[in-house]
Parts: sequence; C-alpha cells; structure tokens
Amino acid sequence: MDAKTQNLAVVTDEGLATFTPEELRAMRDEFQRFLLEYQFGLREVETKIGILRDEFQLMHDYNPIEHVSSRVKTADSLIDKLVRRGVDPTFDSIREHITDIAGMRVTTSFVKDAYRLFDLLTQQDDIAVRIVKDYIAEPKPNGYKSLHVIVEVPVFLSTGRVDVAVEVQFRTIAMDFWASLEHKIYYKYDGAVPEGLLSELKDAADSAAALDARMERLHGELHGARRGGLMAV
Ligand code: GTP
Ligand code: MG
Repeated sequence: MDAKTQNLAVVTDEGLATFTPEELRAMRDEFQRFLLEYQFGLREVETKIGILRDEFQLMHDYNPIEHVSSRVKTADSLIDKLVRRGVDPTFDSIREHITDIAGMRVTTSFVKDAYRLFDLLTQQDDIAVRIVKDYIAEPKPNGYKSLHVIVEVPVFLSTGRVDVAVEVQFRTIAMDFWASLEHKIYYKYDGAVPEGLLSELKDAADSAAALDARMERLHGELHGARRGGLMAV
C-alpha cells in the first residue's frame, strides 16, 4: 500500500482509532479554516486601528501610533498552550478558553495615547469587550506594563457571522522596549532568572515609567495649546 492511501492509526483514550487519508485531510482543512477566522478577525481590528491612525494624521496632523504588529498563533504554539492549560481539544472549547489566538500590539508614543486608542476601539458598536487587564494602572510585580483587552469582532463569512476574539495590547515605546528585553531574558534563563537581574529589570521598568512621564509632560508643554490634537484633549 502506498503512503497516500494508507490509513493512519492513532492511540486515543478509547483505544486505537484509524483515520483514512480523506478523514485526515478533512481534519486539516477544518483546523485551517478555524485559524483563518482569527486571521480575518485580526484584519478587521487592523483596519479599525489603521483608520483611527489615518484620521488622526489627517485631522490633527498627529500620529498617536508608533508601531503596530499582529500575528495569529501558530498551530504548534496553540497545541502547546492547550496541553499546558488542559483545554479540551474541541473547537468550541478552544474558542472559549484560548483568547490570544489572534493578537495585536499597538505601540504608542505616550501613555495617554494608549488609553485614548483603547477607548476609541472599544467604544465602537460592533466591538464587544470580553476582558480588560490594565497592567499600566496595576503593573505586574516584575514591572510589566501594558493595557490588554480581549475584544470580539464580527466577521462575515459565506456561512454567516462569527464573532472572533482578538487580544490587543496597547503600550508605549518605553514599555515595549522593556517587555522585549524582559521576554528575551526570561527565555534565556528558561524562567529561572537570577534574583539580581530581576531586581535590575524592575528598576529598569521604573526608569521607563519615569521616562514616559517626562516625555509626556514635555510633549504636553510643546503641544498643550494645540486644539483638537490627541494630547491636547
Ligand atoms: P498568556 O501568557 O498568553 O497565557 O497570558 P495570560 O492569560 O496570563 O494573560 P496576560 O494578559 O497576563 O498576558 C498576555 C500576554 O501579555 C503574554 O502572552 C505576553 O505577550 C504579555 N505579557 C504578560 N506578562 C508579561 C511579562 O511579564 N513580560 C512580558 N515580556 N510580556 C508579558
Ligand atoms: Mg499570550
């Protein structure tokens, strides 16, 4: 029997299950379609953020956004997370429990801009807010700061409407700089970061916050008088 027509045997809790190649391909297609919904959800939110950025640039000659990045979790990373969290590997259960399959990061110059963009996005009437975690108001003990929100955005497919969860993280350049370094260090030490380095990181987070406050104040002094600008409101 050649490999293309051979059945595949898999050990499950119930015993041995066998799948025909057609069944396996159908499973693969279903999984790809599942991930595609998140790609579409991300595209909707990217468009919304892009519109806000362009409108601000045009109306106020001010761009509140420094950088935007987005990604859909890879199948491997999703499977790792399901195993880590003990989530049932059904699509419904994954939809309910894993809320960062689609993720977007919006980096702003100033803290106020992070909150303003958060408000402008979450107030849109086709957006539902599932969870907000404000690590700017309440930083994590290690010093991590960012404003996180899980939103649900409608996506219209040939089969009808699906509401897709998208995690959006708003943070300043200084917070982003800190978070990328912390992330690298965390991975380098496989989670067991030496105490001295942890306290230096916490210190650096405080310095980043002080820089944010200072830059925002300076920017306010420069543009305080300008009406309609994001910082001027
Ligand atoms: P997961 O880590 O995705 O399972 O998130 P969670 O359910 O604990 O939610 P949380 O909102 O705390 O974190 C979501 C995401 O924020 C993470 O995947 C990271 O991208 C980022 N994040 C949270 N905490 C930290 C941190 O201490 N350092 C860094 N560098 N990033 C963090
Ligand atoms: Mg995550």
